[in-house]
Amino acid sequence: EPEEALKLRPPIITIMGHVDHGKTTLLDRIRDSRITAGEAGGITQHVGAYKVEHEGKPVTFIDTPGHAIFSSMRARGADITDIVVLVVAANDGLMPQTLEAIEHAKKAEKTIIVAINKCDLESANPMHVKTQLAEQGLQTVDFGGDTECLEISALTGQGVDDLLELLALQAEVLELKANPKGNARAAIIEAKFQQGRGAVASVIVETGTLKVGKPFICGPFAGKVKALINDLGESVKEATPGTPVEVIGFEELPRVGDELVEMDNDRGAKKLATERQGEMRAERLKVPQKSRME
Ligand code: GTP
Ligand code: NA
Ligand code: MG
Repeated sequence: EPEEALKLRPPIITIMGHVDHGKTTLLDRIRDSRITAGEAGGITQHVGAYKVEHEGKPVTFIDTPGHAIFSSMRARGADITDIVVLVVAANDGLMPQTLEAIEHAKKAEKTIIVAINKCDLESANPMHVKTQLAEQGLQTVDFGGDTECLEISALTGQGVDDLLELLALQAEVLELKANPKGNARAAIIEAKFQQGRGAVASVIVETGTLKVGKPFICGPFAGKVKALINDLGESVKEATPGTPVEVIGFEELPRVGDELVEMDNDRGAKKLATERQGEMRAERLKVPQKSRME
């Protein structure tokens, strides 16, 4: 890409952490909405992604149920996270899924920012959490290390602005850029069938601008962008890099981590789809060679 074509884009933040440590509550607080209260049993049923503004600077958040999505996306090559926010409940400390999240984030070489949550609780022990973090090689700044760590309460909002400030700063340091011109490439972060709408997928645009009416290829299927719906539920005509948006117009349900790539025309998209389907059939027809060595 020629340097002058690149424009600053919002950082993509993935929130990870153990079950019930407050990932969704934190996102709600950031968005100032109330999704957790509406969820059945307070359990995240899907991956949501939202763009918020902090002092005029956009930041995109992905809420994952655990780290499963993060890993399966990376396994398919959609490595879209810039920064991982690791949420640790101050009364609970590091738990199995926290450790797994750390492992995944380290393997992916992501910057980890720790949000020690639930600091409003009497039983909160942030110092203990920091000791545990150090044991995992994540020595916090106040312990002489380089892991940024904030004590917050997603419930009361304490420290949440500081977290946003820190994320915006880190993003500036990373100088994240993408070319907003040309055909878009977007990563699928969620996909489901919806009554009356067919296969619907949430995507985050990586490069280019995704537009209503454009044909695309996604995995082995061609499609056409029939509608785009932003994170506020509004119908929009296009989506730029770093923006999460719902896409309607898939022939089949795409897989999380697949990439949607805009094409110039229907014919090109259909031709590529036919080729990819042919390759998949050939793959399936291959009889596995059984080893006779053992
Ligand atoms: P999963 O998506 O199920 O993994 O959980 P989660 O990490 O998204 O946690 P969630 O936001 O659903 O919060 C779990 C529980 O902790 C809820 O009852 C929240 O109200 C509570 N909670 C979250 N943040 C805080 C906090 O800062 N303080 C206190 N006291 N409770 C909190
Ligand atoms: Na929960
Ligand atoms: Mg949740």
